[in-house]
Amino acid sequence: MNIAILPGDGIGPEIMAEAVRVLEVLDIPYESETALVGGAAYAAHGHPLPEATLKLAQRADAVLFGAVGDWKYDTLERSLRPEQAILGLRRSLQLFANFRPAICHPQLTHASSLKPELVAGLDILIVRELTGDIYFGQPRGRRVSPDGAFAGQPEAFDTMRYSRPEIERIAHVAFQAARKRSKRVTSVDKANVLETFQFWRDVVTEVHAEYPDVALDHLYVDNAAMQLVKAPKAFDVIVTGNMFGDILSDEAAMLTGSIGMLPSASLNAENRGLYEPSHGSAPDIAGKNIANPLATILSLAMMLRFSLNQPEAALRIEAAVTQVLESGLRTADIWSEGTQRVGTREMGSAVVAAVKAA
Ligand code: IPM
Ligand code: MG
Repeated sequence: MNIAILPGDGIGPEIMAEAVRVLEVLDIPYESETALVGGAAYAAHGHPLPEATLKLAQRADAVLFGAVGDWKYDTLERSLRPEQAILGLRRSLQLFANFRPAICHPQLTHASSLKPELVAGLDILIVRELTGDIYFGQPRGRRVSPDGAFAGQPEAFDTMRYSRPEIERIAHVAFQAARKRSKRVTSVDKANVLETFQFWRDVVTEVHAEYPDVALDHLYVDNAAMQLVKAPKAFDVIVTGNMFGDILSDEAAMLTGSIGMLPSASLNAENRGLYEPSHGSAPDIAGKNIANPLATILSLAMMLRFSLNQPEAALRIEAAVTQVLESGLRTADIWSEGTQRVGTREMGSAVVAAVKAA
């Protein structure tokens, strides 16, 4: 097993260090190589996704990714911004299926911004299409000058597009995932306004004919955003496009208490994948030993399950995380009265100890 480790920017290196410590105590054979990505790669090599990093990711059986982005790169032209690293990896590895589970751990019910009874037992799976939509549409306007000016261009535009095969394959992924859960899929679109998403709705409905055992309903994205905070437990699997999935997954994450808890997997047709926390690089708290490493540690568990065929190791990690939460340890983002506040490193150590003891 060959794992590419890409810590990235901001809190990325800190949270990754904890995940790697957990990986090391699992007693499973693996090789890993670490490389720069995002702003860190730009600073060292002039590009957010250097050829060597891309090659490493392409060679690997799986990629463990931290986070990219920092305000100090905000004025760079778009093709050099840190975000291009993750977009480039998604595109070149064809990681079209993004799994973003939003699970409310029972110990964290009170950390949610919603009333505990609305989120207790919450377990939603967002399946976000990741390589199409307005994110990858062509052509688009271009900010030409690095200082942020559009040099007199009168407009800018991005093109929203989806092809039939792109919608079909993500619909299959969602229906198959639902079969392993409570057999309900909600497809989220904007078919009342956008042609692209009327097409989405039609194609998802067609694919659904192959899954008579799974219930399908459709929601407009604005309504879905509202229902997510009104009655989140009404959802099971949500399937949606790249942009709506980006937005709704942040919203769903917050229901669980903290975006610092949520892992994600981005898979291609061969189940090779990239695993990353759902949160960003949080440059404001970088280097302070306060970031929550659990989302990255849980992403490692997803990697072991989906790409490396080590389901037992995945379970061991997940059980260790539950046990650590059970023991009352909390990083700042999930801290509440009566629990013990710890730093990134201490949280990682506690998980390592629990994994060892299991
Ligand atoms: C995410 C992030 C990315 C996205 C950014 C960093 C490009 O917000 O993974 O949700 O928009 O997809
Ligand atoms: Mg996002």
